[in-house]
Amino acid sequence: MPKIVIAIDGYSSCGKSTTAKAVAARLGYGYIDTGAMYRAVSLFFIRERVSLSSPKEVNEALEKIHISFKHNNRTDRNETCLNGLNVEEEIRKMYISNIVSEVSAIPEVRWAMVAQQQKMGRRRGLVMDGRDIGTKVFPDAEVKVFMTADTYTRAKRRQQELLAKGEMVNLQDIIDNLEKRDLIDTTRSESPLVQAPDATLLDTSHMTIEEQVDWVLELADRRLAAIHRNSHKKAANPLA
Ligand code: DC
Repeated sequence: MPKIVIAIDGYSSCGKSTTAKAVAARLGYGYIDTGAMYRAVSLFFIRERVSLSSPKEVNEALEKIHISFKHNNRTDRNETCLNGLNVEEEIRKMYISNIVSEVSAIPEVRWAMVAQQQKMGRRRGLVMDGRDIGTKVFPDAEVKVFMTADTYTRAKRRQQELLAKGEMVNLQDIIDNLEKRDLIDTTRSESPLVQAPDATLLDTSHMTIEEQVDWVLELADRRLAAIHRNSHKKAANPLA
């Protein structure tokens, strides 16, 4: 079977990462959470007091940043490492969510991250989730999904996630944060969040994670079957 790239883009807290991770596990593919990379950059910028409006400071900082993912066998999760240190828990906190959209709108930051992401997917067999995967990172991805859900549902899900980690955040604060991030993500000049013309829209407002996973897997199965059929046709009639 050929290996493909599955790009999952969309708004924050629609279940992209959870779905992408489960789809990757079922297919035996790699999984990359690109939002985690922008979050790790944000953490570094905060710690090193990098001025977001100084391209010089931003470029110098980017040269000192190395992001990797390490599999944790206990939790069965890929955890984000910043310069070799596990920052998975830290980057999910609200103070990072409050700055990450501004950081990820900086063109120099995007160029550096996109280059790394493209390297990671060179050998295909990958599920990647983010905001610009189907439009910028892998415009040739064989499967593209664009996820959305209503703001209240997304905020409730985000609140539950934070609560599970011991962080209690007011629902209205989460709604404000999501709306602010949506606005920055969709209006920034460098690769804004937009549905790729060949992406399939998935509204997860009334879906469980299992339903979302099955839906993406079905889409991937159909695409893989079509690729398989085409390669057989080509082999039988190479001049066609
Ligand atoms: O998926 P997330 O909420 O962890 O992403 C954090 C932020 O990073 C999000 O507000 C937008 C940004 N992002 C991006 O600009 N491009 C990506 N490919 C992934 C995330």
